[in-house]
Amino acid sequence: MPSPVVHWIPVRSQVQERRSAAPVVAAEPRRLPSVVLKFVMAVSGAAMLLFLLGHMLGNLKIFLGAEALNAYGAWLRTLLEPAVPYEGTLWLLRLGLVAAVLAHIWSAVLLTLRARRARPVRYAVRNKVPGSYAARTMRWGGVIIALFVVYHLLDLTTGTLNPHGQHLQVYQNLEADFAPGRWYVTVFYVLAVVAVGFHVRHGLWSALQTLGWSNAARQRSLKRVSTGFAAVLTAGFLVVPLAVTFGLV
Ligand code: HEM
Repeated sequence: MPSPVVHWIPVRSQVQERRSAAPVVAAEPRRLPSVVLKFVMAVSGAAMLLFLLGHMLGNLKIFLGAEALNAYGAWLRTLLEPAVPYEGTLWLLRLGLVAAVLAHIWSAVLLTLRARRARPVRYAVRNKVPGSYAARTMRWGGVIIALFVVYHLLDLTTGTLNPHGQHLQVYQNLEADFAPGRWYVTVFYVLAVVAVGFHVRHGLWSALQTLGWSNAARQRSLKRVSTGFAAVLTAGFLVVPLAVTFGLV
């Protein structure tokens, strides 16, 4: 004789037990939520954007002449003197910038590893969504920018790779660096600055989403703000090497 089918119905206490156990099983111990990492990326990115904006505006002093640009370079080192010793404020700003760069890279690496773990099998076909080029190149763009910054510091901060390479002679260092005969250096800077522009455009756009400033109605205007900001920043940086190479300053 076939045995009767028994439907197992959990008793109330079992249901409660399973419900209360669920979050403990799902959550990994001491794992930062991804939204926190994205917030760290957004805030550190914002600090770097402020630096870039200030740096770009400072560079434009080249159009006011050698004295103005070199005086600006010297002024940066005497900020808040005598309360703070010579170069003290500059070093504090540098430390803040390094902290922002490290926080940005750290959160980017963790988020990338999580994305890979969530989808260990790569997509066989990538949809070519218009406008997603910058999104797809963010990681490699970041690596290229980091390499550029190392070169740039050896070139224009320490002067090691600069044909003039004199401390505090910012104008003369730029003139020597982007002289017409060294057009390849100008091309390299142009490519690097364009990479920075793409990175900033997409980074700013993502940051605005993370910080919750985007909604369906605002999407278009926030995209325009990100593109506009990146375009102004890129153009502001580009005019300096181009002006020197083409003999406009
Ligand atoms: C074509 C564009 C650029 C020009 C002409 C330029 C020029 C310079 C110059 C002359 C200095 C030395 C300033 C001084 O010692 O007083 C400098 C420093 C620096 N630049 Fe640029 N720069 C450009 C683009 C960039 C970009 C795109 C970045 C970042 C992605 C960057 C990051 C830095 C950093 C981190 C320093 C060191 C600041 C310090 O600690 O004193 N620069 N740049």
